[in-house]
Amino acid sequence: MTTYLVTGANRGIGYEYCKQLKDRGDKVIAVCRHSSDELDQLGVQVETDIDISDKKAVQTLATTLKGQSIDVLVNNAGIYRQSSLSDLNLEGIREQFEVNALGPLRVTQALLPNLKKGSKVAIMTSRMGSIEDNTSGSTYGYRMSKTAVSMAGKSLSQDLKSKGIAVAILHPGLVSTGMTNFNDSGISPAESVKGLLSRIDQLTLDTTGTFWHANGEVLPW
Ligand SMILES: NC(=O)c1ccc[n+]([C@@H]2O[C@H](COP(=O)([O-])OP(=O)(O)OC[C@H]3O[C@@H](n4cnc5c(N)ncnc54)[C@H](OP(=O)(O)O)[C@@H]3O)[C@@H](O)[C@H]2O)c1
Repeated sequence: MTTYLVTGANRGIGYEYCKQLKDRGDKVIAVCRHSSDELDQLGVQVETDIDISDKKAVQTLATTLKGQSIDVLVNNAGIYRQSSLSDLNLEGIREQFEVNALGPLRVTQALLPNLKKGSKVAIMTSRMGSIEDNTSGSTYGYRMSKTAVSMAGKSLSQDLKSKGIAVAILHPGLVSTGMTNFNDSGISPAESVKGLLSRIDQLTLDTTGTFWHANGEVLPW
């Protein structure tokens, strides 16, 4: 049985990962700040009180999971805060760096002892973090924090290759979740996660460090 750890597991894309993984018979460790009714009803291992921007909480997670092997670590938790040229919202930018950029790196480092040859790491970034794809500007904090986490993912792919661990840097598409105010033009979490799991399933050491759209398209940095 393959063991997946998913952060931000109580709702949105994170919850959908847990649901589809459970449905296909994988073992799930669902990590969140606080659980939800639907996550509680899923019948998977749930680890609560884990804020990925809090070093102590992440250490507690590592201690709790000591000796438990993880085949796939899905760094999914993230936040979106408004930031424009007229209102930079510097506090919001810092917060997004803490959660979106440093959080996945902190969690991956803390859980390295749980990963082994053949394990995989998925980093949920965003196309909004693509420099080349940025044709509409603004959204400073979200874009900058996602560019940073894509770079973290690329470095992780280099650093972990010799250990036999592959890293995928993933964009889920525009998805109808709380983050997008359940945007009508977004795809469903179910459709997004179906594609994301295909990307993760197909990930190898030969393709490690690639930036993919959930639909399989390779995205520009
Ligand atoms: N939806 C999209 O269109 C879209 C597009 C591109 C990329 N993404 C990325 O995909 C990922 C999932 O997004 P989503 O749409 O599912 O968002 P969402 O519905 O807003 O869910 C975000 C999840 O992250 C958790 N989270 C936020 N801050 C956290 C923290 N400090 N510590 C631990 N958990 C935290 C939330 O937990 P709480 O319930 O405790 O707040 C929640 O479980 C994010 O990284 C997002 O940037 C989404």
